[in-house]
Amino acid sequence: MNIQTLAAISKDRPVYCWGAGRYGVMAGDALLRAGVRVAGFIDKAVRPSSRDDAIKILHPDALDHRDGWLVVVTSMFFEGEIERSLLSKGYVIGRDYALYSALKKWSFEIDVSGVCQLKCPSCPNGNFSGGTLAKDMMGLDLYRRILSKLLAEVDFLPDVQLYSWGEPLLNPALPDMVAYSVERGVSVGISSNLNDTRHLEKTILARPDWFRVSLSGTGERYGLSHRGGRWEKVARHIDQLAELRGRHHPGMVVEMNYHLYRHNAADVETIAALCRDKGFLFKPNAAYIDPLDTLIEYVEGQPLPDDLVRISRELLLDVDEVLRDCRRNRSANCVRERTVVIHSDGAVRQCPHVFGAQYRLDRGLLDSSMGEISRLFADRDLCRRCKSLGLNNFYAHFLDCSDQPGAEMPRRTRQD
Ligand SMILES: C[S@@+](CC[C@H](N)C(=O)[O-])C[C@H]1O[C@@H](n2cnc3c(N)ncnc32)[C@H](O)[C@@H]1O
Ligand code: SF4
Repeated sequence: MNIQTLAAISKDRPVYCWGAGRYGVMAGDALLRAGVRVAGFIDKAVRPSSRDDAIKILHPDALDHRDGWLVVVTSMFFEGEIERSLLSKGYVIGRDYALYSALKKWSFEIDVSGVCQLKCPSCPNGNFSGGTLAKDMMGLDLYRRILSKLLAEVDFLPDVQLYSWGEPLLNPALPDMVAYSVERGVSVGISSNLNDTRHLEKTILARPDWFRVSLSGTGERYGLSHRGGRWEKVARHIDQLAELRGRHHPGMVVEMNYHLYRHNAADVETIAALCRDKGFLFKPNAAYIDPLDTLIEYVEGQPLPDDLVRISRELLLDVDEVLRDCRRNRSANCVRERTVVIHSDGAVRQCPHVFGAQYRLDRGLLDSSMGEISRLFADRDLCRRCKSLGLNNFYAHFLDCSDQPGAEMPRRTRQD
């Protein structure tokens, strides 16, 4: 099904998007722009956070009692599970539901900042010692050329994500990049550690659609996993973000992505209450470790760096057990295979989870057509190697961690 067919069959029927996380909210906006009126969202993991929420979020049980609904599956990680659930309720593809991934073939993450001021132990910016790509900021001119090229070559480009590994708010050109995207009809998602807000107000004035704050605890505990960051500063900046949103751009969705570790589980309710107070979405998820470069080496016999050993003890899941499960349940699919990460200098990463320079694609984004990139992606040795080790399912284990305090997550053990 293409987007025009969906718009046609959605007339006179309530349309619900199943999946209200970042991917889902941006998908909902894109559907609206394409003429599909979205009545609300379905999700058991994301909770509405204030009495007058702009976003209506229902529990999946609501589907049992409704006829004539049209559902668009807008969850990136749980698409297979949601589709099975819809089929079990008698929903028929093309008539009662559609997969957003079939409408939007490619996702783009543009890392507008090649640097981060924090050194989180779970993140390669804090734990990686191999050769890296350039540590610089993308300039506005390069950004404009990249976006123009994508618009010319990609059929349906509803949104781009302006971060991958770096901290986007450090780039003084971020507000102009957001404004340019909006001007070209592309919505924008940003994720920030919110330790530096010098460019925050101008960024919000440029009207991004979606803004994620990454958090892991309060007080002293915050700095254990957000190493180099200070909770007092972040708490002030959260107030500032709420105030700026209210003043300049009330439609901007703000989501708190709470990285759950053993050491910060006690702070979950504090952050959930903060989200209710500010009208932010609250999205807890079990913290995991990156990058894939290091995980591959570990599975192939190298020791884990000390930093990763220490932070792994704080994860909700045992990394070795997860890796064994991955190996036992290998599969051919990967939800990240059609995500293109463009580094701050225009280089393309072979996978969103790799960090080192050795996993750069042979051609940069501006040196090749999307057709060529697609062919190079189809032939990635890295993916063959990753799948042979079952590592394509590593991250889903953490996102599926459903029985943690405050984290009502979809249940699954691996991707299909
Ligand atoms: C590496 S961060 C870079 C973007 C930005 N600097 C930030 O802090 O949000 C990219 C995304 O990964 C998520 N993330 C970072 N560390 C994580 C961890 N240990 N477990 C789960 N998600 C994590 C963040 O919430 C963020 O949305
Ligand atoms: S198969 Fe592995 S390397 Fe390839 S995109 Fe998926 S996670 Fe990345």
